[in-house]
Amino acid sequence: MEVLPGRVRETLVLPASDPEAIRRAADIILAGGTVAFPTETVYGLGADGLNPLAVRRVFSVKGRPPDNPIILHISGPEMLPAVAREVPEVAHGLVKEFWPGPLTLVLRKREGVPDEVTAGLETVAVRCPDHPVALALIRAVGRPLAAPSANRSGRLSPTDAGDVIEELGGRVDAILDGGPTVLGVESTVVDLTSSPPAVLRPGALPPEEIRRVLPDLFVAGDRGGQAPSREGAAHEGAAGAARSPGLKYGHYAPRASVILVRAGGGDGGDDGIARISAKVIARAEGLLGRGLRVGVAATDETLPAYRGLSDKGAVVASMGERAALETIAAGLYRTLRSLDRQGLDVIVVEGVTGGGLGLAIMDRLARAAGEVVES
Ligand code: TXA
Ligand code: MG
Repeated sequence: MEVLPGRVRETLVLPASDPEAIRRAADIILAGGTVAFPTETVYGLGADGLNPLAVRRVFSVKGRPPDNPIILHISGPEMLPAVAREVPEVAHGLVKEFWPGPLTLVLRKREGVPDEVTAGLETVAVRCPDHPVALALIRAVGRPLAAPSANRSGRLSPTDAGDVIEELGGRVDAILDGGPTVLGVESTVVDLTSSPPAVLRPGALPPEEIRRVLPDLFVAGDRGGQAPSREGAAHEGAAGAARSPGLKYGHYAPRASVILVRAGGGDGGDDGIARISAKVIARAEGLLGRGLRVGVAATDETLPAYRGLSDKGAVVASMGERAALETIAAGLYRTLRSLDRQGLDVIVVEGVTGGGLGLAIMDRLARAAGEVVES
């Protein structure tokens, strides 16, 4: 969605190309305000990460449950000692390989990091975003920025400034408009305080890549990996929820209810694609027959199968190409949001299979879905 510079109610829209914009945004943050800014993943809702009152404002702007901690964004590894008590050897290897980039590290927090940021945990999540506007803003502020995704709690994450206005217009002090984000799903969160280290949230950096540096990385759902322990606690279940409190909340949801149609194994082949589109058509026709307004979040490969559905009134849009999961990651929230803007009752969404970004895509879709069916 295109946005014009100027004021939307009380929200200042600052085009990032304006040479004054970064300085003005930094001043707002240093005065305890909130500024939404682009990263390579999604837009963040930024505030001074060392100012407890500013961080509290972030929670209230988002309507975020206070027990869900926030990621601190830094401009480079040199800022790590300001937020982390100790930086283990493995962290150095990961930072060298993947920062700036969509990898968030959970480390032991340093005293002075407000409890508001960590929701009272002894750990802090830190990342260095790979986006020139984000980096310039952090440098201009000179302090770590606390920044969750810039959406109302539980909703789809924003991938452009128009999305942020839709979510937080009139609630956030300013938006730095740096155009659409490239990756489209959030960073991968890795806990380095557990043994072995564990993925707490799959994201834009696939586990296969992280394992090149960290071979014993634990990913929930993987077979054969040894579950990490801290004082003998299992990762999954209650202990896992306590370690990453955000995981227990519903997330990434449009207003319409979502039915996720999982892809069977080998969905890259014609068979799998025929099966999933047949299932989507059956569900969508049933819903249309009940007089509901129906959307379909499809893929490039299945689009031709849905011409009949469009003729019957369904709104069909493609998230991207199955053969290139990065296009689906980039199009995921954008497609769901654009379908949601049409005031639909139900969105039937196709699942994907495969490793790599497939894990993050299915994680987000499963959290958005009220119902999951197999194809
Ligand atoms: O790509 C991203 O990570 C985006 C951009 C803006 O940087 N940010 C983002 O933040 O997705 P948010 O707040 O929407 O998600 C942060 C996740 C939540 O699942 C939260 O529970 C987890 O990180 N988290 C934060 N601090 C943590 C900690 N100390 N221990 C475990 N999990 C933590
Ligand atoms: Mg979020």
